[in-house]
Parts: sequence; structure tokens; C-alpha cells
Amino acid sequence: MCAFREPVVIHKGLDNVYVKESKICFIDGEASKLFYRGYSIEDLAANSTFEETVYLLIYGWLPTRVQLEDFTKRIESYRTLDQPILQLIRSLPVKSDPMDVLRTAVSALGLYDAHPLTDDMGARIDKGLQILAKTPTIIASFDRIRNGHQPLQPKPGLRQAADFLYMLSGEEPEAYDAHVMDVALILHAEHEMNASTFACTVTASTLADMYSIITSGIGTLRGPLHGGANEEALRTVMEVGDASKAEEYVADALAHKRRIMGFGHRVYKTWDPRYLILKNLGRELAVKKKETKLFDTAVAIETSARKHLEGSSIFPNVDSYSGVVFHTLGIPTDLFTPIFVMSRISGWVAHAIEYLQANRLIRPKALYVGKTGLSYAPFDSRAGELEE
Ligand SMILES: CC(C)(COP(=O)(O)OP(=O)(O)OC[C@H]1O[C@@H](n2cnc3c(N)ncnc32)[C@H](O)[C@@H]1OP(=O)(O)O)[C@@H](O)C(=O)NCCC(=O)NCCS
Repeated sequence: MCAFREPVVIHKGLDNVYVKESKICFIDGEASKLFYRGYSIEDLAANSTFEETVYLLIYGWLPTRVQLEDFTKRIESYRTLDQPILQLIRSLPVKSDPMDVLRTAVSALGLYDAHPLTDDMGARIDKGLQILAKTPTIIASFDRIRNGHQPLQPKPGLRQAADFLYMLSGEEPEAYDAHVMDVALILHAEHEMNASTFACTVTASTLADMYSIITSGIGTLRGPLHGGANEEALRTVMEVGDASKAEEYVADALAHKRRIMGFGHRVYKTWDPRYLILKNLGRELAVKKKETKLFDTAVAIETSARKHLEGSSIFPNVDSYSGVVFHTLGIPTDLFTPIFVMSRISGWVAHAIEYLQANRLIRPKALYVGKTGLSYAPFDSRAGELEE
């Protein structure tokens, strides 16, 4: 055992560890409240657009009409992919996970930036916006290529949400579908110091470039404990298949200590406010499309789960209906987490910029509990395994 052991507290999972002061996002997990820059998520979902929310998160205030128009045009002007990036996407195995494609392509964008490293905050933000603008094009291009279609150019005049749906299907979406997508992007844009935002903050603290910062975030969001839960939640709803089978599924899952996907949250100890907004949108969307079976099954799962989990602090989270909504919009399941990236880049950039304004290299410690003072052994006297 190491002789230098200090009296320390290990914060496994960094629960309740604060790494900075922030003015970007406030979650009240007891009261079911979420605010971006002081504005409630309900207010933003009802009145804002994704572009305006990005502006708010990154710059800190709601833009004037002129500021928003300029900003929207700027994002639009960044959307097109250069040929080398399209060629790279074409060269990747068609069976690749879209998250891996996205991580690779965003990383590659940095290779074509003559000055990826900069101390200038405005230039850093601009690089973040370029990545944010190109992400939907990367995702949609890969999806078309893997399905044997030509990738489409972004369509001038469409905003980020509508343009993504257009580039996926080749058809301009109905206004309501574009609106649902837009709200879904607003809801996923920011969520305080979660794992991927922390990963981005760590990378930013080393003064790395924006491509490295966002690539760190994508890699971290990829895991099933973070970004992947929305895909799992939809798979559960599809596996149950019918509202009449929900009670049996939930009772069996809980009896065997399996988790109900789309339920529970590290921060919310009551319902996640984004869940309610998505549930209402999901209902409207299902009725409009006359495809209510999946939505009804999700509701039945929720009803059973809430009955069985009554008295606990396990409530529906954002993922309980997001998958149903994306599926009803015609989006393939393995694109749900990339869509999360499309939106969350705004939060990652906002936090990276905020942290850099008072930067300190993030360098925690690990408590060494191994041995010291061992003698270097010649080959003939090695056991070939760990010796106690
Ligand atoms: C999100 C999540 C990881 C947060 O969990 P957490 O706050 O760290 O809580 P824990 O994992 O410590 O779980 C605490 C207890 O609640 C139970 N629990 C948590 N989420 C549950 C769920 N979705 N279904 C059933 N039980 C659940 C755990 O089994 C555990 O029970 P135990 O004390 O009897 O062992 C967890 O709720 C989960 O795995 N949910 C499903 C995946 C999901 O929807 N993720 C998206 C999050 S936005």
C-alpha cells in the first residue's frame, strides 16, 4: 500500500462537485424547472426558434430582430460541406454508426481550417457556429449515402430544423413537422454540467481548438448512459408494441431489476420539464399523422411505470417521448443521438467560451492506492501476472 496516502474525499462520479460559476443554465430538479440564461424552457419552446436559442445560449441575451436575421444568415452560409469532407463521408463503411461518422467528420473539419487555434473569443465562437451549422449536413449526407442516394445541398431559406429534415428525405417538410423538430432542438440545446459538457470544458481548459473540444463532446455523448438513452427508450416502446402489453412489460422489468428507459434522472427528482413538452408535441404529431399506436404504447408504459414506481423519485425524463417523436417524423433510430449533438453543440460552445473567460486547467487528482518501491525484475523471475 502506498505510504503517501493523504486524508482525502473521493467524489466518485463527481456528484455535487461544482467546477465553475455559470450564467448559462439553471436546473431546479426538485421543482421541475429548467432555465436557459434565465428564460424558462416552456417559454422558449413556445416562443423561440433553435437559431434564437443558440444565440441566447452563446451570447447571453435574446437577439434583436436584426441580430437574429444576421445570425440566421450566418449559420445558413456555413452549412455546405466542402468536397474533401463529403469524400471522407463517402469513404467510410456504410455500416458505421452515425455517431462515429459524425465524430470523424467533425474532427476532419479541423484539418481544413488554416488557423484552428486562436485566442480570439469571436473567432472561437465562429468556429463553433461553423461546426454547429455543418453537423446536420454531415448526418443527413451520411444517411443518404448509406441508403444509396446522393447527398443533398442545404436549401437556402430553410432554417436548421427544416433543412435537416429536407436533406434527409429530399422533400421540404410540412411546417408542423419542421416546428416539432425545431422545438426538439431547443429542448436538447443545453443542460448544465452533464458528462459531455464537462468533457468539452476539460478540453477547452487545455486551450485546445474548437474541433477538439466538440469532438470530445461527441465521444462522451455517444455512451448509452448519456446520449444513447433516447434510442433505447424507443426500442422499448417498439418491443412492447401495443398499449395492452405495457403493464406486463413494466411489471416484469421491475421485478427483474431492469430499468425502464426514459425514466429517472441524476438531477431531476420529479418529472423532467422537457418530457411534458415533448409528450404534448408527440400527441399532436401522432394525431396529425394518424399514427397513434406508438404514442399510445409509450403513454401506457409511462402509466404503468408511474404506478409501480409511485413513492420513488423516478419520473419520466426527456427521453421517454423524444424517440417516439423522432420516429414519427420518419427519422431512423440511430440518428437520434446525432440529432442530440446537432442541438447540444450550442451548449458545449457556450460553456467552453464561458470557462475560457476565466480559464484554469482542469487537473483533478487520483488517490494512489498501489505499491511503491518495487525492484525491476529480470524476465526469468517475473510471474507474468499481478502479484499481491
Ligand atoms: C438516468 C439514470 C442513470 C440516473 O440514475 P441515478 O440518479 O444515478 O440513480 P441510480 O442509477 O443510482 O438509481 C437509483 C435507484 O433507482 C432505480 N432506478 C433508476 N432509474 C430507473 C429506471 N429507469 N427504471 C427502474 N429503476 C430505476 C435504480 O435501479 C436504483 O434502485 P436501487 O437503489 O434499488 O438499486 C437512471 O435513472 C437510468 O438508468 N435511467 C434509464 C436510462 C435513461 O432514461 N437515461 C436518460 C437520462 S436523461
